[in-house]
Amino acid sequence: APDIPVANVRAHLNQFQSIATGNGGNRAHGRPGYRASIDYVQGRLNAVGYTTSLQQFTSGGLTGWNLIAEWPRGDANNVIMAGGHLDSVTAGPGINDNGSGSAALLEVALTVASQNLNPAKRIRFGWWGAEERGLIGSTYYVNNLPSADRSRIKAYINFDMIGSPNAGYFVYSASGQPSGSLALQQTLQAPFATMGVPTELTSVGGRSDHAAFANAGIPIGGLFTGAEVTKTSAQAQKWGGTAGQAFDRCYHASCDTTSNINVTALDRNSDAIAYAVWTLSAGTPPPT
Ligand code: PHE
Ligand code: CA
Ligand code: ZN
Ligand code: ZN
Ligand code: ZN
Repeated sequence: APDIPVANVRAHLNQFQSIATGNGGNRAHGRPGYRASIDYVQGRLNAVGYTTSLQQFTSGGLTGWNLIAEWPRGDANNVIMAGGHLDSVTAGPGINDNGSGSAALLEVALTVASQNLNPAKRIRFGWWGAEERGLIGSTYYVNNLPSADRSRIKAYINFDMIGSPNAGYFVYSASGQPSGSLALQQTLQAPFATMGVPTELTSVGGRSDHAAFANAGIPIGGLFTGAEVTKTSAQAQKWGGTAGQAFDRCYHASCDTTSNINVTALDRNSDAIAYAVWTLSAGTPPPT
């Protein structure tokens, strides 16, 4: 799998920051900064040959959208899906939460195109709306999938907060939640082992957009660098950073700007996403 240049991921984060700054300081559901974020990501994907679509929904009386992008090669009956939410809270620009996952997914998608990847399976990306209002967009997507389409999705991997400033390296546990997949857990652990970075398993429960996929019986996995929880001294010893401080002290706050990113964590997680997308789409048996 390719090494994703973190400079390119950061360039997308700079775009999200500019969008927020130019639109009242956020990229929240129902606000102009959300629509501008959608337009940026969709424009980049359309320019390199993705099949993209917007799925419109309503939440709180305000219009929202999911952006779905498919790389038009590989077996359409075997879909590997990767996603994360593109909306921020209203309090701030949402650069770690979740510009980070959104930007890494975009750069991985652009790399699939630049390498003209010809995978055995179909690769589909999702950027979800209104996660911050209660997982609205991803739930709408899963609930509106025709059952035949739902059964074509063999895996969903989720990326929500992957550049936390006081980062931990968490992989969604296969055993902690519905539809947790050991194969996906191991596929997401493997690149960190190669990088020499220890990981911990975490049970994220229903706290992000994998939840609707899990409830539909689709195998799920994901990566996370931590939010409001405090880093322990044992964790600071193995990962560096500051014990006794939150993984992200700017979680859901106005200070979640481009200054609120650990570039090393963003780089490692971006490379791990690429590893997972390449590996899962390459034609190995479906994950269990
Ligand atoms: N979904 C949470 C948010 O956007 C963040 C989170 C992700 C928490 C994964 C736990 C696990 O605020
Ligand atoms: Ca990299
Ligand atoms: Zn959030
Ligand atoms: Zn989030
Ligand atoms: Zn690197």
